[in-house]
Parts: sequence; structure tokens; C-alpha cells
Amino acid sequence: MADKAKIIIPEGYAISYWPDSESILERLHDLANNRPMYPIRRESMEEYLKYFETKCAGSKKLTDDAKRFIPGGVQHNLAFNYPFPLAITRAEGAYLWDVDGNRYIDFLQAGGPTLLGSNYKPVQEKIMDLIRESGPVTGLFHEYELKLAELIVRLMPSVEMFRMLASGSEGVMAAIRAARTFTGKSKVIKVGGAYHGWSDQMVFGMRIPGIGPLEAHGIPAGCYADTQEVFPNDIEGPNGLAAMFERNEKEGGTAAVILEPLGPESGTRPVVYDYNKRVRELCDGFGSLLIFDEVVTAFRVGLGGAQGFFGVKPDLTVFGKCVAGGYPAAGGVGGRRDVMECFAAGIQGMKKRAMVGGTLSANPLSCAAGYYAIKAMEDTNAPVVAGRAGDRLTRGLQEIIERRGLPFVAFNHGSICHLETAAAMLMDINNPKIFTEVTERKHIMEEMGAAMMAEGIISLAGSRLYTSMADTDEVIDDALERFDRVLSCVEI
Ligand SMILES: Cc1ncc(COP(=O)(O)O)c(C=O)c1O
Repeated sequence: MADKAKIIIPEGYAISYWPDSESILERLHDLANNRPMYPIRRESMEEYLKYFETKCAGSKKLTDDAKRFIPGGVQHNLAFNYPFPLAITRAEGAYLWDVDGNRYIDFLQAGGPTLLGSNYKPVQEKIMDLIRESGPVTGLFHEYELKLAELIVRLMPSVEMFRMLASGSEGVMAAIRAARTFTGKSKVIKVGGAYHGWSDQMVFGMRIPGIGPLEAHGIPAGCYADTQEVFPNDIEGPNGLAAMFERNEKEGGTAAVILEPLGPESGTRPVVYDYNKRVRELCDGFGSLLIFDEVVTAFRVGLGGAQGFFGVKPDLTVFGKCVAGGYPAAGGVGGRRDVMECFAAGIQGMKKRAMVGGTLSANPLSCAAGYYAIKAMEDTNAPVVAGRAGDRLTRGLQEIIERRGLPFVAFNHGSICHLETAAAMLMDINNPKIFTEVTERKHIMEEMGAAMMAEGIISLAGSRLYTSMADTDEVIDDALERFDRVLSCVEI
């Protein structure tokens, strides 16, 4: 692990400075593994829970009813559910409103796609026109498929062709299938802790590095038999990436390495700056493909994605979220022409085809939304504007943490911000307390998320905060006052 490489911060990207990954990783490790837990004081938590009882009766009624018809009462893993989910009825710019009329600052951003702010009117109007004209789907070709593909090819440095699908999970499945078809090899290496969607082969090494198939319930072992994980940032170690490549050579070789270019879980365990470059070199040396999962980072980190920021070209890139501008059916894969042609090969030639499909993949609505949203991001400089909001938010959180003498860690890569307080996902697999503590730490994070909601802030799982172009200085400063109130209640 080394973060001593010469760091280049290109113009036009959301990341305005490179945070020192090594020191962040050390502090995160310490918080998750060496320190006690720091929950919100009981009496303060009781007060916060009263908010839900007194102000959120409509959400409670709806989500109680939902438990009778929807398993667990809620469909989204990201909707924070403690003490019960909020039912949202309105979204605009930086704000969400629940069914009881309460307003929240939205740092969840639907899990990442609404970089322009929620329900961005200029895109919404184009979509209304489209729906009036063709409806959302016909099953036949629409010009917006071409327009979106052309735009992505123009903006993303490594993408020569693009295939639209319906989700990031599907994009990952397609990329891996193409990599195996193209190389004729089967092993795929991922970085432990990363989330690449919920396909059978990728529910492996999720959240906590080294966890392997522990969450792969209902998935036959054969499905992930060729999925391997390495620890984040570990290239040279005895079980690091280089050694795994070497071992795989004796077993048919490595088809691809797939990674999130900022580090697992959108940089929750941040990469050291030159990690991606070194993985690129190893892939070239072993004749394997490099797949960047840019489901979160494409367009959010900059119009050229994380690959443009790092100046590293993957062979394939997976898209999701922003690629459909916050509208449904967001997913796709793009990359080198020769590899991408695997998706068409069976029709025209004798080559083997990597099968992909989907009734609603590449429908006019998703393609038009992606096209107009990405154009709007380009016209308004949205990635940079949102990135500056992320910088302001993070600086403010760091100031609060320091002033209050808390051991918490706040850092950001542009508009992707992290506030680690209980750090459940940062526990070490070798920590003997992991199985007893992880649930408790998760509950502390849930309480933190609930306290934030009672203060009018929606986060992703109480620890990740996405900023958008709608987050003006005023919005961020207001949010910081709210965070300060939450953190004033932490027991230390
Ligand atoms: C990095 C990454 N890859 C893949 C996915 C899966 O995308 P989807 O939820 O669209 O299937 C996600 C979703 O959060 C993600 O964050």
C-alpha cells in the first residue's frame, strides 16, 4: 500500500484534492477495531424517537400496512428503516418531503443518480414530451439510444461502444460475461468489500473484505466458484493481487479484475492514488481485462468518470445510476470495440456471443433521460458544483468532529462524502469481536441515521452523504448546524 505517487488533480472533476488515503485508512481501522462504540446518549435518542411518533404518523401507517404485502415492508436496501421507513411524496432540488409534510435535506440522492438535484425540471420536461409522443417503451429502436451512446463515447475516455441495460447489476453481469468470452478464461478477481450488485457470482466478498460467500444465501457454490477476492490496496502481499494472478495462471488464467475505482463501497475504504494504475499494469502483464465499475462514479466524479480523473483506461466500464439521469432502468456496459463486439458476434459471424438482453433495456425513456441529464451535467458543470458542495460539507463535518473531540472520520472524494461514526463495515475480518460487535455497530449506525432524519437530513445508511448541484452553500451550512446538533448528543 502506498500513497506516495505523484498526484495529478485534473481540471473539470469533482475531486479538488486527493485525501491522504493511508491516514484515513489508519483512522478508520482504529475507529472500527480498537475503540469502544460511541452511540447517541439514551435520553437524546428517546427524544429523537419521539419525532417519529409525533410527526411521522402517515409514514408509520403506510409502512405498517406495507409489512402485510411487501416482505419486510420496504423494497429498498437503502431506505433507512429505523425506527420505520419514511414514505416520501415530493422531491425537488436539494429537498425531499414525506407524506406528513416534513422536509428533509437529501444526501441519499436515491443512492447516487440525482447529481443535478431531485426532479430536475429541464430533464423532466423532455421526458414528459417523450412520453406524450412515444410512451416509455416500444421494443423497437429509438434515436435516443444512439444519442446516449454517442454522448457516452465522446465523454468517457475508454469507451468506444456502449450497450444499455436495465441496472448496474446487469451491467456487471454483462461485463464479466464479455470478459470471459473474449479472453477464454474464467476467474474473476474482485476487491473484498466492494458492491457490484446482486448477481449470483457477485454476492461474494461483500461489505467486509475476506467475508467470501457468507452472505450468499440461496446461491449454489458453483455460481461463485470462479469469483475471488483480494484485500483492498493489497498488490504485493502474499495473498495480494499479483500473487493471485500468478496462482490463477496454473488454473486457466484470470479473465478480469473488477473494481470500484475509488475503493470498495464508493470509497468507504479508499484506494491509494496509484492503485488503479498498478492493477492496469498487472492486467496487461497477465492478458486479463480490467473492468471499472463506475455505477456510482461515472459522471458524478466528472464527465470522464473516475477513469478520466485517474488517467487509467479500463477495458470495460459498467454504468448505472447517473446513466439514466435518475430515471428508471439505469445500467449499461461500454468499452473497447473488440471486446464490446462480443455482444453482437453471434448474429453476424461465427464468433461466440455473450448473451445480454432485457425487455425494458434501452427503452426510450431511460435513454432520453440519460442523454438530457448528462448533457445538462455538461452544460452546468454539475459534477464540479456538487463536488465543491461535498468539500464544504466534509470540511464542516471535520470541524465539528474536532471541536467536539470525537474519534469519528469524515472524508470525501468530491460529491461522495463519508462520515464514519460506528464504522460497522470497516471492521477487520480477523478482529475476534467482529461477529459480536458488527450487529451492535450497525444498530448504532441506524440510530445515527434516525437522529439525522429527526434533524431533517436523509443519509445513506447513516454514514454516506452524496451532494448534488442543488446543494448551495446555504443548504450545506444549514445541514452542518443539524449535524452539529446530532453529534452534540454522542456519548463520549
Ligand atoms: C458500485 C456499484 N455497482 C453496482 C451496483 C448495482 O447497481 P443496481 O442497483 O443498479 O443494480 C451498485 C448499486 O448501488 C453500486 O454501487
